[in-house]
Amino acid sequence: MIDEAVALLACPHCGAGLDADPPTLLCESGHTFDVARGGHVSLLSGGGGKFTGDSTEMVAARDRFLGSGRYDPIMDAVADVADGHRILDVGVGTGQYLARVLDTVGDSAVGVGVDVSKAAARRAARAHPRAASVVADVWTALPVRTGVIDTALSIFSPRNVPELARVLAPGGRLVVVTPTERHLQELVTALDLIRVDEHKTRRLGDSLAGTFDRADRRAVGYTMSLAPEEVGAVVGMGPSARHIGSADLAARVAALPTPIEVTVAVTVSVYRPAAV
Ligand SMILES: C[S@@+](CC[C@H](N)C(=O)[O-])C[C@H]1O[C@@H](n2cnc3c(N)ncnc32)[C@H](O)[C@@H]1O
Ligand SMILES: [Zn+2]
Repeated sequence: MIDEAVALLACPHCGAGLDADPPTLLCESGHTFDVARGGHVSLLSGGGGKFTGDSTEMVAARDRFLGSGRYDPIMDAVADVADGHRILDVGVGTGQYLARVLDTVGDSAVGVGVDVSKAAARRAARAHPRAASVVADVWTALPVRTGVIDTALSIFSPRNVPELARVLAPGGRLVVVTPTERHLQELVTALDLIRVDEHKTRRLGDSLAGTFDRADRRAVGYTMSLAPEEVGAVVGMGPSARHIGSADLAARVAALPTPIEVTVAVTVSVYRPAAV
């Protein structure tokens, strides 16, 4: 975990900055946190929270699907609007978006990936040499210093708006990716998956109103021609994976046409802290 990334972190108990003292991180009050052999660190503020995040199987499916390049246009759009050299990705998943952004914004950029899932944090720890991987729950105070982040990413992930505002530096930006109701619609219909709320984009604006102003919004849309194993991966990494058993999913996928044309339709939005 590189020092420049550790310098962005805060102690979950007292809020003080953290320093690296391998193999631990420590704050000035003497709270210490072990860096796991895999490279991630748990900065959960309490024991046993309500959320566990994505399972090992979901993270593996996400790794396979993103690794196939099928979402590269989304990654490119995110990297295109990211700016500055201190990047935070909340709900980082595998870390593949964070890695793409770090490679794009420049050699001096450092990143922090936060996820409540240990499986995700383990994977994100090896996503990029300049990224720190942290286990934390977005619904508590983020273990990140106040006012130090140039670009915060929230990609298909839960958002704690006041906390995102707190950690952004003056002039910083929040980049949000949300699915539209047309996203993966062929699979949603054919496999009876969980539907995206058709008002999601409006609700995003509502939840940020007063704290952030929208500076940019771009639609990313295209179709992918997916083989059955890719369908299994894209469904397996999403929320429906929690509700459909793997045998049931395999049977439903086997009944689909091969390959199947599937729509990608997401919105990439850039927000700036609202003027007060
Ligand atoms: C749909 S995935 C998106 C992952 C990644 N941003 C991507 O697009 O590939 C949502 C992520 O949010 C994480 N997550 C869910 N609830 C969370 C929470 N309360 N705190 C932190 N992360 C959470 C999940 O573990 C998962 O990795
Ligand atoms: Zn402390």
